[in-house]
Amino acid sequence: MAPRARRIGSLAALPLALLALAMALELDERPLAFASRESKTRAGATVYNEVRRRRSGGRELWVMRQSHDGPTLDRARQDLLLIEVDPDRGTADFAQLRPSEGDPVPGETREAAPFRASCFRCHPSGLRALRPDFDDPRVQVSTWDRLRLAAWNLRIKAYGRLRAEAAAGSNGVFRSERRFDRETLKAETCLRCHSEGGPRAPLERQHTETIRHLVSEGEMPPFPFALSDEENVKIQDFVDGF
Ligand code: HEC
Ligand code: HEC
Repeated sequence: MAPRARRIGSLAALPLALLALAMALELDERPLAFASRESKTRAGATVYNEVRRRRSGGRELWVMRQSHDGPTLDRARQDLLLIEVDPDRGTADFAQLRPSEGDPVPGETREAAPFRASCFRCHPSGLRALRPDFDDPRVQVSTWDRLRLAAWNLRIKAYGRLRAEAAAGSNGVFRSERRFDRETLKAETCLRCHSEGGPRAPLERQHTETIRHLVSEGEMPPFPFALSDEENVKIQDFVDGF
């Protein structure tokens, strides 16, 4: 091959290699374990998550096993949490299952366990970006799994706002309907995205815990947005219950 033709050949190979990588990431449905930066146990210790995504017939099932007692907790004592997404209908159905059974597949119906926490408190728009603590000494995340996480987070952002509901047959409190809990945060910068008609659902008082975490970690508002002093005070007052 002439040198010029060879150069063109290798340039054409790059998008193909990227496409193959994207496909390999997409097809890997194995569970992925990490220490959560946001979720803590009642005593303030690290919560360990194992997440997997399974797809079938246009549905996407996100399965999370969660341990409040270290990364090697017996599976029967973990929390088994599910979100089934129907991207065409724009819905996210939440469920909690008995953990001793194996991981479910999309469309399967199983008897639900009562919600251990009200899911809507942290999931107003459906799925959440996964934010691991890569420095946790007890669970290492490989480079391959970091790529998978990045691909999943792109997918999660691409869903946009989903209608978050308790799956049929669930029991326990999914969301609070109390008037106080439903009051909304009105900081202009946040409203750009978190408002009716925006890409995320409005933020309410019941979302206080997760608002506090994401703002204090500098995750919200996302770059390049910044808060004015006045907005900082407004958000602080809101999370303090005023
Ligand atoms: C206190 C906040 C909080 C509550 C309550 C909560 N979650 Fe989550 N959930 C999170 C966070 C944060 C993540 C992202 C993982 C991470 O970074 O640790 C997540 C991730 C998930 C995932 C993985 C897919 C995704 O959205 O990233 C599933 C499945 C899930 N949660 C199900 C549930 C279910 C079902 C309930 C109710 C029984 C629930 N969650 C209640 C905070 C919460
Ligand atoms: C440019 C758009 C944008 C702005 C501005 C923004 N957010 Fe977000 N926010 C997002 C997106 C997208 C997500 C979901 C993906 C993620 O977790 O990064 C999110 C997630 C959240 C969540 C988790 C609940 C959810 O909707 O999934 C909270 C809480 C939150 N943001 C708080 C805030 C606060 C408080 C502000 C203002 C200080 C703010 N955000 C500003 C785009 C934005």
